[in-house]
This record gives sequence, C-alpha cells and structure tokens, in this order.
Amino acid sequence: MSRSAHPAGPRHADVLPEGHYTAPADDLNSLDPKVWAQTVGRDADGVVTVGGIKVTQLAEEFGTPAYFLDEDDFRARCHAWRGAFGADADVFYAGKAFLSRAVVRWLHEEGLNLDVCSGGELATALAAGMPADRIAFHGNNKTEDEIERAVGAGVGRIVLDSFQEIVRVAHIADRLGVRQRVQIRVTVGVEAHTHEFIATAHEDQKFGIALAGGQAAEAVRRALRLDGLELIGVHSHIGSQIFDMAGFEVSARRVVQLLAEVRDEHGVELPEIDLGGGLGIAYTSEDDPREPHEIAKALGEIVTRECEAANLRTPRISVEPGRAIVGPTAFTLYEVGTVKPLEGLRTYVSVDGGMSDNIRTALYDAEYSVALVSRTSDAEPMLVRVVGKHCESGDIVVKDAFLPADLAPGDLIAVPATGAYCRSMASNYNHALRPPVVAVRDGQARVIVRRETEEDLLRLDVG
Ligand code: LLP
Repeated sequence: MSRSAHPAGPRHADVLPEGHYTAPADDLNSLDPKVWAQTVGRDADGVVTVGGIKVTQLAEEFGTPAYFLDEDDFRARCHAWRGAFGADADVFYAGKAFLSRAVVRWLHEEGLNLDVCSGGELATALAAGMPADRIAFHGNNKTEDEIERAVGAGVGRIVLDSFQEIVRVAHIADRLGVRQRVQIRVTVGVEAHTHEFIATAHEDQKFGIALAGGQAAEAVRRALRLDGLELIGVHSHIGSQIFDMAGFEVSARRVVQLLAEVRDEHGVELPEIDLGGGLGIAYTSEDDPREPHEIAKALGEIVTRECEAANLRTPRISVEPGRAIVGPTAFTLYEVGTVKPLEGLRTYVSVDGGMSDNIRTALYDAEYSVALVSRTSDAEPMLVRVVGKHCESGDIVVKDAFLPADLAPGDLIAVPATGAYCRSMASNYNHALRPPVVAVRDGQARVIVRRETEEDLLRLDVG
C-alpha cells in the first residue's frame, strides 16, 4: 500500500510524525462509497444518513456506541453473490462474521446457505428457521455434544477437521442411525498474503488435514470406509482479507488434484469442492476489493480448467464469504468524549467505545477509516488517533486518520466497514456493555441485537 508520512496540504502541526496514514481526502466531508454502506450519504444539513435516517436521530434513539447495519446493502450483497455463482454453486455465509436471527432470515430469503462453527451459531441458525440441510458445520474441535446436535438436526454437511473427528462423527451418525454428509477440510500449503493470525492454509497451524505427505488422501480413505459418513467433497479455506486470486488458484488446483487421486484410487468422483471464504473488503480508500462476479468467474474458470486437465467432471463449487457480505454494510457510531492534542505528535480523540467493540485494530493492526458524521466542517485536517475508553494503551480503534481540526466533545464520528468481526468479537472488558446492532432500511430502524445492560452483567455474576 502506498503510504505517505508527510502528505502535502495544511496541517495542525508543521511536522507530522512517522506513521501509517494515508493523505487526507481532498474534502474531509466526502464519504468514499467504497468503504461506506450503500445507502449512506449526507443530507442537506451535512448530517450523515443511513437508510434515510440521520445519525443524530439514531444516536438519540439508540445511544452510542452502536453498530448501524444497512439492511438493503446486506441484501444486495447476498443477491450479488448468489447471482454471480448461479444455480450450479452454493454460497454459504460465514456466520462467524456476524450472526443474529434477523441475519439468518435475510440469508434464507436471499437464497444463501449458512456456515456455523459452534453450538451457539447452530442454535441461532435453527432458532431463526434456517433449514438444517442448508447449514454447514465447521470447527477444529467440535464437541461430541455439538456434533450430536448437528447430526440430529440434519445439517447439510459437517466439515471434518482431523482424523479423530472422522471417527467421532461416524460413531455419532451410526448411533443416530443416519448417514451424515461430510467434507474433509484440507490444508493446501498456500500462505495467503494476509496477517499471520488469519492465514490458515499453510501447514503449521491448527486447521484441517495436510495434503502434504498424503495425509488428506489417507483421511479420504478412512472416511470412505465408514458407513456413517457420506463423503461429498473436499474443503479448503486459505485465509482472510485476501485480494489476490493467486492463492485461490493454487488452492483450487491442489484440491482438484486430490479429487483426481481419489478417482484413480477409489473409482469415486467426489461431487463437491468448497473453496472457503476470505475475500477482502475496503476498510480504507486504498483497498480495492474484487466484485463477486469477478471472483465467481475466476474461481469457476480455474476449477473447470483443472478438471478438464485431470479429465474429471467439474464438481459443484461452494464458497463461504463472511466479511465480504456483512463487513461493508455497517458502521460504528461513537460520540467524541475528549480531544487531546499532543504537540508535534497527533491528537488523541477518545470515544465512548473502543477495543471492546472493535478488537481488530489491537489484534491485527487493522486499518480503518473515520469521519465526522454529525455535521460538516471546513476546518483543516488534523492527524488523529481514535482511541477508546478502556484501561489499556493499545485500546485503539483507528490508528492514524485525519479529522477536521475543530472536532469537539459531543461530535459524532463513525467508523465504516465494521459489520464483520466487530460485534461478533466484542467483549465485556472493563465491564463494557456490548453495543446494539440496529438494522436500518427505508427510514425505519430496528434493534436486531440489543445493547447489553448492567443487569445482564450482574445476572451472570452469581455472587
Ligand atoms: N470459511 C471458513 C472455514 C473460515 O474459517 C472463515 C473465517 C470463513 C469462511 C469466512 O472468512 P471471511 O470471508 O469472513 O474472511 N477474526 C478475523 C477473521 C477470522 C476468520 C476466521 N475464519 C478478522 O477479524 O479479520
């Protein structure tokens, strides 16, 4: 990414400190549609609106901090993914990015399937009426109880992650008298160009069964022998926030090679492959994500080409985007509490949330954008660090960004692209109350996950 330590233009300090910040936008009042949800804009008074409602009104009604999710944008993204992959493929939304009963209903209505990775996610999916056969169950250490609930509910597939799990799921399926559809998660040895913590297909990590050393082939051998399992295919997920299709290309090639080996050894053509999720989104104006139709075309071409070369029938493809669907649809709204200029360094802007509602900056050094949303301003840009209210100096929401120099306590600022892995990774650190998620559509706002209360905290603390 091109970064400038000393961007041109007027600043509140003559010399800017070293940092990973981009030059401020020419107009700090502008909202880059790449990073904001589709219905976000400014109204005639300069107040930002989403779904036709002013953020000032939303703050009054629902409080801050809060996540506001643009339901039309969510549905449009589901529609785009569904349409791009067509009837011969399946799109499983990765529930770990953000899951609630309303989300499950939207997915159902928009024709998407759902990937869950815990008993809690499974319970949410079933409670909201997602047909079990459209649910995939993932995880590197599913408990017996979770497996039993998944098999008992009739989930469409369980993605097996270890040799022990192959046996475990087979036994449970036998006991329940069913034949469970399964895929085997393989690690293809691709190191995706992303943060080390979220790259998952290199071999030295906890997920999947390595293709290397014939381990995945051995897993297939064992799964095919067990009556309780119907092996439908192979699964690969190579990481997250990936822009470059090269990693998917290698992954698809290696997965297809395994299918060819399976055909040669067992005379069985496994009918499905799942290429996982991991497609990147724009957190700042510098990110250039691919559109779903480009991704679908690229993946389809790779798989078709590799299958032709191996003389295999093209398997049904599935993908599991989480972030790419929900990430861009929401922003977090905060109220500015204190503004502390540090001479020659930067201005610290403290908001009423922080690492408890967005751990990604602290955990992955993630980059975010930020804008003043309760009004416009013609003041010059000042370099800011947006921080939370937690007792930890790493409590940073936006590391380096520009906001107008007249920013003051009481202003509302918003951080876009927080729909994925923010509420779902939120914590109660310092007994913070996790913020609500409010869905906004056509001038209507409704809470889909309510704000936690001190009563909620005390209810868990049994004294
Ligand atoms: N499928 C599997 C098997 C996965 O493990 C994941 C993400 C996905 C799909 C969805 O990936 P997505 O399209 O959302 O990138 N907490 C991290 C991300 C961890 C993702 C874990 N698995 C973050 O905040 O960036």
